[in-house]
Amino acid sequence: MVTVEDLNNILIIGAGTMGHSIAQVYAQSGFKVILVDTNLEILSHALKLIESNLKVLAEFGKVNVNDIPSILSRIYTTTDFKRAAEGKTFVLEAVSEMPEIKKHIFNQLVEICPHDAVLASNTSTLDIFKLLKDIKNPKRLITHHWFAPPHIIPLVEVAPSKKTSKEVINFSIELLQKIGKKPVLIKKFSPSYIVNKIQNAISGAMYELLVKKIASAEEIDFAIKTTLGIRLPIVGIVQSQDFTGLDLIYDIQKSMGGILPLIKEKVEKNHLGAKTGKGFYDYGDLSEDEILKKRDRMYLQQLAFLEKLNNFDPV
Ligand SMILES: NC(=O)c1ccc[n+]([C@@H]2O[C@H](COP(=O)([O-])OP(=O)(O)OC[C@H]3O[C@@H](n4cnc5c(N)ncnc54)[C@H](O)[C@@H]3O)[C@@H](O)[C@H]2O)c1
Repeated sequence: MVTVEDLNNILIIGAGTMGHSIAQVYAQSGFKVILVDTNLEILSHALKLIESNLKVLAEFGKVNVNDIPSILSRIYTTTDFKRAAEGKTFVLEAVSEMPEIKKHIFNQLVEICPHDAVLASNTSTLDIFKLLKDIKNPKRLITHHWFAPPHIIPLVEVAPSKKTSKEVINFSIELLQKIGKKPVLIKKFSPSYIVNKIQNAISGAMYELLVKKIASAEEIDFAIKTTLGIRLPIVGIVQSQDFTGLDLIYDIQKSMGGILPLIKEKVEKNHLGAKTGKGFYDYGDLSEDEILKKRDRMYLQQLAFLEKLNNFDPV
């Protein structure tokens, strides 16, 4: 199997919202990228978007403006999928979220690419492994789930199937780290991974509030930006529970009719979060006072930044 060190050509199929920007990220890291789509208009639009993305990154010092022509010169576009796939040892599929199209593409890739090529899908919602259950050599199949816009958002969720080989998983993590991304390996494949699962729960609650006319769009966004918007970048969702106090979470779950064994166990051990130095996280030797001060200094920096940015006004 190809190593990350030896890899220099990447094939990306689909030049839409995700594909064009993922191609850009690989090209920024020095890879030669072949970008495939179904017609030349889409491909030339993709190149224009990439150039424009690079200019914005240059405004923020993330790219040297003098490097833009060479980054663009590393991206080759074509509609000739079969020819582009020949000899490719790493392929990322980012085509429309239609099972039949994806199935067709992977079934061709396994025939055209070398037998040990790594084949990754960027699908958000499909169980690609179930869809391709009869594929030859399933150990080389994996998902690399990027977030829009890929040239800005650091996370990529990497989800293997039970059949994906360790080498393919390690290759994926190493490759994504090499291009400056922050891969997270998902322990058990689930079509919405981590982020979309939580995002879907948030959207579900938001639509309920809107439909029942409990709050307006502006009120919901203002409420979220002035609370979770400040806290989440600092403590995430799980650690946030440590600051709420797991004893309170226990009481809330009790009154709602179901205490999770996970919470019961922690409360019985007096692992209540920041107040006892242990909860979901272990705060080591830090006292409650020190933990809270550490958190509050970060909250205050975040608050000052957001107030300066746009004072929570809509974009
Ligand atoms: N948009 C997002 O925020 C987002 C985030 C993460 C993952 N994804 C996933 O990424 C994939 C692509 O999503 P998108 O938003 O970029 O879609 P998009 O519609 O913007 O782009 C899809 C591209 O695939 C092309 N395409 C369709 N069939 C093709 C074929 N046979 N060969 C080559 N190209 C073909 C289309 O012409 C189009 O340009 C989907 O699986 C989606 O679930 C999207």
